[in-house]
Formats: sequence, C-alpha cells, structure tokens
Amino acid sequence: MDYEALGEDAATRIAAAEGLEALEALRIAYLGKQGSISALLKTLGALNPEERQATGPAIHALREHVTEALATRKEALEAAALEARLASERIDLTLPAPEAAPEILRGSVHPVSQVMDELAEIFADLGFAVASGPEIEDDWHNFTALNMPESHPARAMHDTFYFPDQTEGGHSGPGHGGDARALVLRTHTSPVQIRTMLGQQPPIRIIAPGRTYRSDSDATHTPMFHQIEGLVIDKGIHLGHLKWTLETFLKAFFERDDIVLRLRPSYFPFTEPSVEVDTGYSFVDGRRVVGGSGDAPGHSWMELLGSGMVHPRVLSACGLDPAEWQGFAFGCGVDRLAMLKYGMNDLRAFFDGDARWLRHYGFSALDVPSLSAGVGSRAGVSGAVA
Ligand code: PHE
Repeated sequence: MDYEALGEDAATRIAAAEGLEALEALRIAYLGKQGSISALLKTLGALNPEERQATGPAIHALREHVTEALATRKEALEAAALEARLASERIDLTLPAPEAAPEILRGSVHPVSQVMDELAEIFADLGFAVASGPEIEDDWHNFTALNMPESHPARAMHDTFYFPDQTEGGHSGPGHGGDARALVLRTHTSPVQIRTMLGQQPPIRIIAPGRTYRSDSDATHTPMFHQIEGLVIDKGIHLGHLKWTLETFLKAFFERDDIVLRLRPSYFPFTEPSVEVDTGYSFVDGRRVVGGSGDAPGHSWMELLGSGMVHPRVLSACGLDPAEWQGFAFGCGVDRLAMLKYGMNDLRAFFDGDARWLRHYGFSALDVPSLSAGVGSRAGVSGAVA
C-alpha cells in the first residue's frame, strides 16, 4: 500500500475542511477508534517481526502526518472564527445613542458621591470651602506633622499600604515611617488639615472629603473607604463652636431636629482635648435610625466621629502661633453616614460595582442636593432612583 500517497490525500482533504465540525469528522474518520489509520495500526499486531519492521514506520509516519495536518487546519479555522467574531461584534461608538437607553445603561450617582455632595452643600451654607489633598501622601503630612512622630503607638492603628522606600538602605512600614519622603496611602483625611494650614492664612474653614486607606477588611471595613475632614482655625475658637457645628451639620444631614449628641473624652495625637462624638439612635423596622437621646427608653448611643481642638504642636508644625490661633477639627466616615441615612448594611457592596445595587441605591444625576429642597430628600430618605 502507498502510505505516502494516502497521507497526501488525507492532508489535502483536511486542508480543505470548511469548518471545525467538518474537521472533527475527518479526524474521527482517520484517527477515531474506528478510523482508517487506527485500523492500519491494529494490523501491525498480527504481522511477524520482519513485516512489522517494513511497514510499521510508514504507518506511524502516516499517522504523524495526518495529526499534524489536523492541528494546522484547526489553528487556522479558530483564528478565522475569532477574526469573524471581532469583526461582527465591533461597536461603533460614534453612532448616536438610542433614544431611550435601557434602564441598565442609564447611569446613577453612587450613594458615596451623593452624600459627599450633600455634605458640601450643608457646609457651604456654613461658610466652609472644600479642600483636597493627595491620596498618595508622604509620611510627614500623614503622621509626623499631626503629632505622630516615628514609632508613635497611634501609627499602629493606622496600618496602611506603604510604598517601597526609594532611598538606599531605607525601609518603610509600620514604625519605620520617620523618613518624611516615605510614601503611604493616606490613612485619614487629616493630612489635608496640614496642607491647608501651610497653604493659606487663617481664618480657615474647610471640609475635605475623600478616599482613605487602611489594611482592614470585613462587613464594616474596606481597605479603601471615605472620610470627611473638617477644620476651623480662627481667634477665640472653643469646644462650643465645635459642638454647635456638628449638631447643625448632623441635623441638616439627617433632616431631623431631634439629633442628640454626646461628647466623650477620647484621644487623638493631633487634638487636645479630643472628643469622640456619639449620637442617640433606636431600631425602627430592624434598621438603625438616628434621633433622640441614647439614654431614652429603647435607644442607645453610637459612635459617629472623632474630633477635638487642634493640638498646639500641630499649629506650630504649620507655622501658626498657638497663642494667637485656635481651632477645631473633626473626621467622619462618609460610607458610615451613607449607610445610616440610606439603610445599607454591608459596606463591601458599596465597591462591588454591581449595577443592580447601584440601580437600587443610586441617585439620579439630576437630583442635585440643595438645602432649600432638603438635602437628599427628593429621592426620599429610603434612597433609590425612581
Ligand atoms: N483622623 C481621625 C481618624 O481617622 C479622626 C479625627 C479627625 C479626629 C480630626 C480628630 C480630629 O480616626
């Protein structure tokens, strides 16, 4: 038998196969269990050693030849199929949008953005400007200038993401941050206090909303989260101004007059005295609703934010004379505020990018928060785009 001619014939048919299915049929016809080449291979067993030596290599070469031809054709067909798919699935972005975009394509404003806009609106009314700073912050602004020198224990509570030290022989990481050039993902919005005091003369009234980072992850903590910082520097500022400002802000934000605050002594390196601010709340239909005193029947206190009078050392680090200037600062979790106001219970869902969650909890882009309309009230405190 002319095995070579047989191989050529098979290779020609294989190269002409029109699609992957036709190719598979040929593979089965030649190399399948009942295939013609498989049948030839089986005959080898019945031959005596001499005959086997004569025909064996030819049959094996035939099988090799056909196997190779099949692989080559398969590759070519698959490449052609991919080309065709790419060509047919091309989207022409220059085409006009359909008149009515399907609901899923219509964007909505993320609750975090919505809440930040609400806060900006509330504080603008109180005369605060919006300030910002970099999310990749240096050690000095994030820690040292805030009265957290190298190896200060408070740094341990701010475990974050450290950039490899660029300097030779240097290292960065918790407790090694003394090098002012070392970069970290900022652990709070407080470094914006420093940047603002260095960048402008008092009186200062700013808020600084933005992303912050810590090495934390569970239902109520994500490695990236949002804070809003507040800073007021002026003459004769005292704790009473802080309490009034927070009360006014929280009443406007939650749109309730019965917000009751409890100021608890606390500790932050960059404020003195430091106060943790709690608010009273109760459960309504299984949901935390702020309002009322935490000491009232059925109510409890929950921690809402940290604050205090700006530490004299922080003022000095920014070139301000503590004998002349005083001020207060506060820092509050924005995601936390959004969850409380709009009733979500898992923080992680905020950052999953699930369009169904965004449709449910998102806000219409046309729904710009304004005080006259009651911030956030058009969408209803239960949230959601209609
Ligand atoms: N930066 C503090 C934190 O993230 C909060 C804070 C801000 C406390 C301003 C006091 C004053 O925990």
